[in-house]
Amino acid sequence: MRRATDKPSRMWGGRFQKPPSPEAEAFSRSIEIDARMWRQDVWGSIAHARMLASCNILTPQEAEQIVQGLLELGQEIESGALQLDPGAEDIHTFIEASLHNKIGPVAGKLHTARSRNDQVATDSRLWVKDAIRLILLHLHYLQEIIVSTASKHTKTLMPGLTHQQHAQPVSLAHHLMAYFWMFERDFERLWDCQKRMDYSPLGSGALAGTSFAINRRFTAEELGFSGVVENSMDAVSDRDFAAEFIFACSLMMVHLSRLSQELISWSSPEFGYVTLDDAFTTGSSIMPQKKNPDIAELIRGRSALAIGNTAGILSLLKGLMLTYNRDLQDDKPLLFGTFDIALPSLDLMAAMISTAEWNVKAMRAASRGDFSTATELADYLVQKGETFREAHRIVGEIVLHCISERQPLEKMTLPQLRKRSKLFGEDALELIRPERALMAHNTEGGPSPKRVQEQIRRARRILRRHEPFAD
Ligand code: ARG
Repeated sequence: MRRATDKPSRMWGGRFQKPPSPEAEAFSRSIEIDARMWRQDVWGSIAHARMLASCNILTPQEAEQIVQGLLELGQEIESGALQLDPGAEDIHTFIEASLHNKIGPVAGKLHTARSRNDQVATDSRLWVKDAIRLILLHLHYLQEIIVSTASKHTKTLMPGLTHQQHAQPVSLAHHLMAYFWMFERDFERLWDCQKRMDYSPLGSGALAGTSFAINRRFTAEELGFSGVVENSMDAVSDRDFAAEFIFACSLMMVHLSRLSQELISWSSPEFGYVTLDDAFTTGSSIMPQKKNPDIAELIRGRSALAIGNTAGILSLLKGLMLTYNRDLQDDKPLLFGTFDIALPSLDLMAAMISTAEWNVKAMRAASRGDFSTATELADYLVQKGETFREAHRIVGEIVLHCISERQPLEKMTLPQLRKRSKLFGEDALELIRPERALMAHNTEGGPSPKRVQEQIRRARRILRRHEPFAD
């Protein structure tokens, strides 16, 4: 095992009469965090060296030595043969110092026409682009799970709520599919921001480009960017891509958190709609009977941390004069932290949904006697010529009667109904069955099984379109 400490690993020092205080050095060190970008750093450096050779700034032999050295370093880091030096300032410094140890002074030519400012901006964009690809893949999978679960429950009646009170009957499929569309917007948002960050900052130098005749398009192409950032000052100081990524993940976490809250409530005895698989629940150290939805609770909790990261990145940026300021180094814990929250949350949610046992009977039972078809009755009177306001009043009185007599609306008899309005006929009795109400709500985007099947078909079509993005 080798360490890259036998040479001073600082990239500067010529104009200083003494080194930074150990406290200052420790305070500014970022290697423990930005080490996660080592692949991007190696890759970026290889592209830069090749470009320098193609522009005759390095000789082909020099570039070859540097590229070979970097490739070997990459393999050594990957295999663990080369351990990261926790005393190095950051990953960029470490890799350059390690290259020096490996190939000698020619390593010092790598940083020609480059600054850590454009280097770190490039590494970060490459890292986030990769992170987005991974998240999209896992998000796509969760969406598939939602669709396949929903497709089995288009007729599973459940109470739809507003204000957390029973409102109108829906189906489990319709309820779950609402989340599909939230996640679809998350998918688009992430895809969209990845397109916006797909421009290379490399070649912008510290802030003002360079007088070397470099070719920015060369490195952009090598690194798979679709173009170059237009303005060198913007290139080194912009972290919009980080803010957009963190926000898009946070909003996705908010959706996961809401779904978690549903699972938490639905798995409580008061609802009893769902039993979560043992694998995603935990017991209590004192109460032997307990089975707690900890994973759902943790997803809900972690969403708070992601939201904090959104506030963090925006606050980090808001006061900075152009261009690079060291504050920007601290975008990394926010970026990585958000990713580390989002990815497992997606997987665990997919696993919870796919293994959950849905208690169809409990959902159906909860939809009875809950007055959720009162609107149907009012609509019936309107169709018979009553004004909606008057119909609303009449049905309100019927509900009041049922409450005081402890009688479910579904058990009302025709004579009881006719006592309130002569417009009621035999067919009104059919309407107050929740199954019937579900069928009747057949507007586009509505909960009737037919409409939800339509929705599912559209969702499946969208999932097929994802495939080129998510692989
Ligand atoms: N570790 C630094 C960062 O993440 C690298 C850039 C340092 N640049 C500088 N001018 N001090 O931002």
